Amino acid sequence: MSDKPRILVARPTFPEVIERLAAHFEVEHNQADESGSPEQLRSRLQGKSGVFTTGAERIDAALLAACPQLRICANMAVGFNNFDLPAMTAAGVLGTNAPDVLTETTADFGFALLMATARRVTESEHYLRAGKWQNWSYDLFAGQEVHGTTLGILGMGRIGQGIARRGAHGFGMQVIYHNRSRLSPELEASCKARYVTKDELLQGADHLVLVLPYTAESHHAIGAAEIARMKPGATLVNIARGGIVDDAALALALRERRIAAAGLDVFEGEPRVHPDLLTVPNVVLTPHIASATLPTRLAMATLAADNLIGFLVHGKAVTPLNPQALEKR
Ligand code: GLV
Repeated sequence: MSDKPRILVARPTFPEVIERLAAHFEVEHNQADESGSPEQLRSRLQGKSGVFTTGAERIDAALLAACPQLRICANMAVGFNNFDLPAMTAAGVLGTNAPDVLTETTADFGFALLMATARRVTESEHYLRAGKWQNWSYDLFAGQEVHGTTLGILGMGRIGQGIARRGAHGFGMQVIYHNRSRLSPELEASCKARYVTKDELLQGADHLVLVLPYTAESHHAIGAAEIARMKPGATLVNIARGGIVDDAALALALRERRIAAAGLDVFEGEPRVHPDLLTVPNVVLTPHIASATLPTRLAMATLAADNLIGFLVHGKAVTPLNPQALEKR
């Protein structure tokens, strides 16, 4: 047996990334198109020092207790709500994520989903494909204006700022935002964004884009009460995480036309989608693809691999989330 450290790649990924890892590690690669059960993950992780995760594999105290050799979990995602970070820190296990390399691509998609939602792109395409189009008509699929309107952003990290810049500089939108902490005056100026309270954001936005991390505090941050505060003609776009929006409440609000439309790339309990969302017409649904261009996905996978190599081979991860975990070893 080789004396290379053993790692698990929890889901299929780029062959060149597996090759990069195989130069340093003995790699077990789950080629199945699913993460498997927690028991399968636990069993695959036996004897492994590191794991390459995709954001879907849950790393919690029970798993860590069963995998004492594990030293690092490298997520190929900027979000890391699949990690119980305090439990990882307590167990001396480092977590890493994949920030920055996906910022602009994800912001592009946020804007694409906003446009598709406001201008009813998928709904009108379904109509055309169904052979229902008879005539040009003055109000056929009339949607919501985008340019010159007010763009609201909840969660003003790097991706939120990218969306703000696109709205302000490309579409002449007034940008308002709410965030746990206010941006520096320089960043606010570069995004042409104005800080407001969450309530002012809900009431003021013509288009509200969610880009905040999923935490216990942001669970159902947008539910029936928040939707009721929004403008009747508003659109809501979620590219953050499922669970931030109460999908059942949103489906009802869309059906009752409480707001004009929604665009959702993420869902509570995905890949399951709340059945009511599948039957309302005024929602654009995409399968968690905001960062999905091949160059960006390759950059994310390479960064996850470099975190494993950096830490397990050279003693230093590139983008550590909980460096304090190292004090526990
Ligand atoms: C994708 O959702 C990510 O967090 O990178």
